[in-house]
Formats: sequence, structure tokens, C-alpha cells
Amino acid sequence: MLLEAKNISYRYQNGPWILKDVTLSVGEGERVGLVGPSGYGKSTLSKILAGYIKPAAGEVLLDGKELPAEGYSPIQLIYQHPEKAINPLWRMKDILHEGWVPDQCTLNAMGIEQGWLERWPAELSGGEMQRFCIARVLGPQTRFLIADEMSTMLDVITQAQIWELMIRIVEERCMGLIVVTHNEALAQKVCTRIISLPELNKL
Ligand SMILES: Nc1ncnc2c1ncn2[C@@H]1O[C@H](COP(=O)(O)OP(=O)(O)O)[C@@H](O)[C@H]1O
Ligand SMILES: [Mg+2]
Repeated sequence: MLLEAKNISYRYQNGPWILKDVTLSVGEGERVGLVGPSGYGKSTLSKILAGYIKPAAGEVLLDGKELPAEGYSPIQLIYQHPEKAINPLWRMKDILHEGWVPDQCTLNAMGIEQGWLERWPAELSGGEMQRFCIARVLGPQTRFLIADEMSTMLDVITQAQIWELMIRIVEERCMGLIVVTHNEALAQKVCTRIISLPELNKL
């Protein structure tokens, strides 16, 4: 499968252009770092790639076709702030099981403890919540993962464990991974190819 962004432009309301004529493509089995300083439109582009927001111009294509409008999306986004991505009124097990039911092996590898499943989001730390947000997007139908500053909330040891697991999973399933980060050293470590957003952006 191929995920393509073609000539994407975007601005919020009538604000300044954030993205201008941005084109990139990511194949399955690739791990691509999308790097650039804070405020350069990385999160905006991530949301466009995942189909959460529509670009003002240009298109996102999966194998040459528009993204499916409903159902489980093969392109899944992991945010920097897990608390913004989950419903605070749902128990963790319902949040986890919304898209698929992860096997025990995935939960163990993510360091998700059984007792956490019964808790409410407010009863977990940000790092603990983020493990759920990662586990829940690893469903069998996921073909591309976009990790937007995914590990910023995690301590260094957990970061290393989670990236190791992510790389193993995307390799095993031959998924595409887009690592969105201001941290070029992280991208160098995790990715097979690096794209600089400021260089792509024809502002
Ligand atoms: N919902 C929004 N409404 C208006 N402006 C926004 C919104 N979200 C982000 N922006 C602006 O868009 C620019 C790019 O933001 P963002 O995509 O979050 O960049 P990055 O992820 O690279 O830090 C910033 O100037 C930011 O202030
Ligand atoms: Mg961002």
C-alpha cells in the first residue's frame, strides 16, 4: 500500500498559510521521520494525513484512492497528549477495545497492567494512558501509523521499550510508520528515511 499526500495546502480559518503545496509519499514497510521545529505544521499535516481534517487544496490518497469516509481507518494517529484522544467518561477497557481487542502479548509488551483496565482515565498517569492509546491503534486493519510526538510523555526507559515494540510490530505486519517529531535524533534512531517539513513546505 502507498500513502500519498499530493500538493497539500492548509490554513486555519482565515489565518496565515501553514502548509503550502506539500507532497510526500510513504510506502508500507517504511519508517519515515517527519521532522521540523515546533509550530511548523507537523501536527496539522498529521491530522490531514489521517483524514481528521480536510486540506484547503490537494489530496490524500491511499493506493491512489480517497480515504474511506467511515469504518475503521487503515491510517491511525497517535497524539502527543493521550488525554485529548480519549473519552474521560469511559473506562480504560472500553477505550482500549473500541477498535479491536488487543491480545495479552501486546498488552504485556506495552506494560499495560491488568488492573488498569477497570480504571477511569483520570486514574492513570499520562504515560500509562499513552500506552493504551498506542495499543488500541495496532488493530489488524491498521496499515499506516502516524506517531505525532508520541513518546514525549514517557520516561526514557519506557520510550525505548515502546519504540522497540513499535518497530517490531510495523516490521512484522509490514505497516508504514510516520514518526512526527521535533527531535531529529529520535527520528534518526527509529526511521529508515527522514523528511524535513520546512524543506517540503513551499510557503
Ligand atoms: N486549531 C487551530 N487554530 C488555529 N491555529 C492553529 C490551530 N492548531 C494549530 N494552529 C497553528 O498552526 C501552526 C502549526 O501548528 P502545528 O501543526 O501544531 O505545528 P507543530 O506540530 O509543527 O508544532 C501554529 O502556528 C499553530 O499556532
Ligand atoms: Mg505538533
